[in-house]
Amino acid sequence: MDSGSCCNNIVLIGFMGSGKSSVGAALARSLSRVLLDCDTLIEQTQSLRIAEIFAKEGEAGFRQKERALAEWLARNVRNAVIATGGGLPIFYENIQNLGVVVYLKADFDTIHARLSHEERAKRPLFADASKARALYEQRAQIYAARAHHTIDTNDTKGGVQGIATAIVACLESKGIV
Ligand code: S3P
Repeated sequence: MDSGSCCNNIVLIGFMGSGKSSVGAALARSLSRVLLDCDTLIEQTQSLRIAEIFAKEGEAGFRQKERALAEWLARNVRNAVIATGGGLPIFYENIQNLGVVVYLKADFDTIHARLSHEERAKRPLFADASKARALYEQRAQIYAARAHHTIDTNDTKGGVQGIATAIVACLESKGIV
């Protein structure tokens, strides 16, 4: 398995609402790195919200943009924290080209309870909770298989910073940071 050491990025993957963006921000602060959030970059580049891209171009149009961004990041970005969208490591099989991949694992019920109605509305693939649960079940093993490391985020007593600290400890123990 590629160790992801090529470009020294730390790449957060996981289902929608698993905390990739908020944990990514805390992790970037802890390690004095830049955070690149894939969904935000796509929204800024297109001047459209994710839900608008899905409505205008369908999921296929969104996946094309997401893949193009991932390929660009793999070629150009070093030493960053990258927060991916939940589908990126599913549709972009070479996710490990981006760096060390860390899976933020949480149960579907935990994720569902964490996301407000407003947060769900931003995510077209979360519009229907039973379809989102089925998607989660399809994807869970793929996330685990494509990650170098898995961090359980069900217990959030330490908050977002606690999860970031657990990631730093895991990566330090492997000599990665
Ligand atoms: C998606 C996850 C979303 C966003 C898009 C599709 C997915 O990002 O990229 O709505 O397929 O899981 P978050 O994981 O940040 O919600």
